[in-house]
Amino acid sequence: MTKKLHIKTYGCQMNVYDSARMSDVLLPLGYALTDHPDDADMVILNTCHIREKAAEKVYSELGRLNRTKQRRKDMILAVAGCVAQAEGEEILRRAPYVDLVFGPQTYHDLPEMIARLSRQGGAVLNTDFPTEAKFDHLPETTLKSGALDGASAFLTVQEGCDKFCAFCVVPYTRGAEFSRPVAAVLDEARKLVALGVKELTLLGQNVNNYHGVGEDDASWGLGRLIGAAGEIEGLERIRYTTSYPADVDAELIAAHRDVKQLMPFLHLPVQSGSDRILKAMNRRHGAQDYRLLVEQLRTARPDLALSSDFIVGFPGESDADFKDTLRLVEDIGFVQAYSFKYSPRPGTPAASLDGQIDETIKSERLAILQDLLKVQQLAFNKSCVGEYMPVLLDRPGRNAGQMVGRSPYMQPVHVTAPAEMFGTIVELRIETAKANSLAGTLPGEHGLASRGPNNNKESAA
Ligand code: 5AD
Ligand code: SF4
Repeated sequence: MTKKLHIKTYGCQMNVYDSARMSDVLLPLGYALTDHPDDADMVILNTCHIREKAAEKVYSELGRLNRTKQRRKDMILAVAGCVAQAEGEEILRRAPYVDLVFGPQTYHDLPEMIARLSRQGGAVLNTDFPTEAKFDHLPETTLKSGALDGASAFLTVQEGCDKFCAFCVVPYTRGAEFSRPVAAVLDEARKLVALGVKELTLLGQNVNNYHGVGEDDASWGLGRLIGAAGEIEGLERIRYTTSYPADVDAELIAAHRDVKQLMPFLHLPVQSGSDRILKAMNRRHGAQDYRLLVEQLRTARPDLALSSDFIVGFPGESDADFKDTLRLVEDIGFVQAYSFKYSPRPGTPAASLDGQIDETIKSERLAILQDLLKVQQLAFNKSCVGEYMPVLLDRPGRNAGQMVGRSPYMQPVHVTAPAEMFGTIVELRIETAKANSLAGTLPGEHGLASRGPNNNKESAA
């Protein structure tokens, strides 16, 4: 009899990728995916440890699932991901009804862990950093795994981080930097394209420090890898995330100019606009380095749209430091951004720094920054009205006949379109803009089909 598997994913896109690979491992064992945790035979929470709020969510969800487990004793309850890695023992102490706890580097061992669970009884904890890469042991991605949500897919090319920003848990939860070999990446990319994928997002915690071994035994950078991915027949869009500003090299900048499938949107976290704070954060770039880098990128690709991450209220941040951040935002102009109040994380150097900032000041600064970012985002969205844009339709909309897609600049675009257009890239005329999305129409609806696009931003400038 088929067993039902429910995976709930928190946090970043790499967790989304990992969850899909977990189902790749489990489906051959007779599991089928379900959206409903309460009638699942196995529930996996794939967790995020980046901020306190994210980590705490796990414990409240576990409490809820425990009530289900009281009724269905044989349900397997598993905690995966970065909370599992960082506080495995603590999870088993606070939630002793959990059966399996495993980190991001061991999920290829799930069949063995499940077997051990039924053999030994009691909980199984596996938070090793194995010397052999899990990628060598994972089965092929299949259509059933959920890795393929519409025509867009993630592909992990690099994992881990050696940067040790003073606020960040990632170097501890994901471990040291590791780049998959070029052949393994391109092979997975080709398989995904053969399954119907049109857009690939290359993933890594520090993706632009990719240095995988090529077939020529040389170490390839991300720019070269993107160039090779651009040669794959049928792959129409390439994106990558997340980048570290100090690791953007000339080859990657050139890829933005030369690889036509590389989308003109870049998530490039800066964290702060104050040199003093950037130094305290152990970032290896200053605010001016960031400005110059953006200038070089925009020279290579004039329509490049930028997004970023910001932390307000890092220990020691003064009003003047915060104003430097606002100035940087004004200078660059972001089309989208994520901003957070600094959250002290156990085990990271910043958590024990003097000068921790009051929560009310953090909240005030966050509100001011978010207002500015919102103004920029809305202005960019409004500037798109009247333009024609290629949109990859990859999600169903709220009402019948509606679909949602992504513009080259990652804006969600709502449209009413025939079902056969699902999973394809269609040229839409943008009619209206809101803070978080656009709405478009098929040009034919206006009798304009023969006129074609007046400003096709996707073609390289
Ligand atoms: N507190 C607040 N935000 C954080 N981030 C990482 N660690 C912390 C923390 N301790 C943010 C950074 C990073 C994004 C993924 O999360 O901005 O780029
Ligand atoms: Fe964390 Fe990114 Fe810094 Fe690495 S580079 S420590 S993942 S914020």
